[in-house]
Amino acid sequence: MSEAEKIDYGTFEATVERSKKLEEDLIVNPHKYRVLTGDRPTGRLHIGHLFGSIQNRVRLNKLGVETFIVIADYQVLTDRDTFNSISENVKQLTIDYLSAGIDVEGGKTVIFPHSHIPELNQLLLPFLTLVTNAELDRNPTVKEEILASGQKRINAGMYTYPVHQAADILFCKGNVVPVGKDQLPHLELTRVIARRFNDRFAKKKPVFPEPQPLLSRAPLILGLDGSQKMSKSRNNAIMLSATEDETANLIKKAKTDSERFITYDPVNRPEVSNLLLLVSLCTGETPEKIASEIGNGGSGQLKKILSESLNEYLRPLRKKRSELESNMEYIRQVLKKGIEKAREVASATLEEVREVMNMNI
Ligand code: TRP
Repeated sequence: MSEAEKIDYGTFEATVERSKKLEEDLIVNPHKYRVLTGDRPTGRLHIGHLFGSIQNRVRLNKLGVETFIVIADYQVLTDRDTFNSISENVKQLTIDYLSAGIDVEGGKTVIFPHSHIPELNQLLLPFLTLVTNAELDRNPTVKEEILASGQKRINAGMYTYPVHQAADILFCKGNVVPVGKDQLPHLELTRVIARRFNDRFAKKKPVFPEPQPLLSRAPLILGLDGSQKMSKSRNNAIMLSATEDETANLIKKAKTDSERFITYDPVNRPEVSNLLLLVSLCTGETPEKIASEIGNGGSGQLKKILSESLNEYLRPLRKKRSELESNMEYIRQVLKKGIEKAREVASATLEEVREVMNMNI
């Protein structure tokens, strides 16, 4: 294999730099780009998702960038046994997206689940021939997920899902993928697959773009225990669908420290600082200013302010959420429309792919 063909992860700093340039160009030239993003339907979203990634998507949406959102239902099967709630989770995730401000009515955003787009899934077959077992085996994110899932017998879907993810991105020729750091290896693999495909089958006229990562600038939101990432499975999250009372009760139980005077100091006081950061995301004031206003009021006052500002901030979203929840037929329609559009795009790509691979009859 030549040097040029190897998977080169580059440095993280270089990726950050490229991502900043991309961010600037997206504002000036939104029409040059097509965003592809996705989530696994493992449950409802919490405020960590909202502040970490969903609001970024809403912002790109508002710039007028076309966006495809894949709900990766097949991926759920790679690391867990349960599948009973997949369909319900797909619908609840869609409700979360819409209530957070993702706009499907403007015709620029498409939401669809994997399992309904056979033409997308078919791309997996030629793509699998473009990577080696050794390359799949080296993927650091997959290794971590295998550890975290506690699986003793690893299914082949686990090793190959990053190739499936390449199909998610390339089926619509997405050229921008908003991601967190953990997804960068998958995106690099996607770029390699696009390059190798074009190199092997479409030298004269490339079929696929090499998509670029757009790193989220959002701060990492810790859970209410203040020691790890917010996550439903770690029991430290506030769900978007929680009631105002539930929210206030969770915040009351949030971990703080024994120092009364409130200061913003993420290194030495992660728990208190995380709560201040959340107030700041709701009110737009800096965490330092909020801390100095509370001062001797202590963690009691900090929690009271957070409950009030978070509940106020989420009120319109939650109102929309409960309206949508009582209109499941609309949610089904949104998904049906998304599936229709995604299949149209995927069929056109598959047609091109068959053509260059000499498989049309
Ligand atoms: N692997 C992603 C996650 O676990 C979800 C995902 C599936 C995705 N397909 C994608 C993300 C394509 C970005 C692009 O969160």
